[in-house]
Amino acid sequence: MAKTRIIVGLSGASGILYGIRLLEAARELGVETDLIMTETAARMIEIETSLTPEKVTALATRIHESGDFTSPLASGGYVHQGMVVIPCSMKTIAGIACGFADNLLLRAADCALKEHRPLVLVPRETPLSVIHLRNMLTLADAGAVILPASPGFYHRPETIRGLVDHVVGKVLDTLSIEHHLYRKWRQEDTERKKY
Ligand SMILES: Cc1cc2nc3c(=O)[nH]c(=O)nc-3n(C[C@H](O)[C@H](O)[C@H](O)COP(=O)(O)O)c2cc1C
Repeated sequence: MAKTRIIVGLSGASGILYGIRLLEAARELGVETDLIMTETAARMIEIETSLTPEKVTALATRIHESGDFTSPLASGGYVHQGMVVIPCSMKTIAGIACGFADNLLLRAADCALKEHRPLVLVPRETPLSVIHLRNMLTLADAGAVILPASPGFYHRPETIRGLVDHVVGKVLDTLSIEHHLYRKWRQEDTERKKY
């Protein structure tokens, strides 16, 4: 059986750790990844982590330059099990919502929508303007899943990793990829000692 493969788009919003963790988790789970990183995302790796863009690209199965429209990802014929843009900037949200595909990430997302393949967008911005909200509604209407970078706390995370893993786990849930990144809610958890 063919391996599961997903397209991972990293854009230049804060929260680049979410995208890096998705690449790590996919690798651990044996899921192939096609990575597209915008220029700003590469900058965010340097701003928000102690990693380099090269270290992050090494986590992916295949890398595609964001200006390369000859990449197979620029065609709707490229079969994959879903595309995730994580983190997703408001600029990239706007580009996808308008079908303005002037980089490979935007084009691949455009293809996912037109081919009715799963498209999961993990926006990171606060507060949200009416323009941001309208663009997200347009995308949800078009079939994208809007999964904000907004971790839950019911699994009692004690580290940043615990928070990041909750969001990445929700992304994998959406794509029906099994994982152990966070503990699913159980009713017994209400019985745990209160503090
Ligand atoms: C430190 C820093 C943090 C940023 N955080 C966000 C953010 O959380 N959300 C967002 O939409 N844009 C954010 N931006 C702005 C984007 O980087 C900018 O709009 C950029 O053009 C996005 O390009 P891209 O979507 O092609 O990667 C941030 C910029 C900087 C320098």
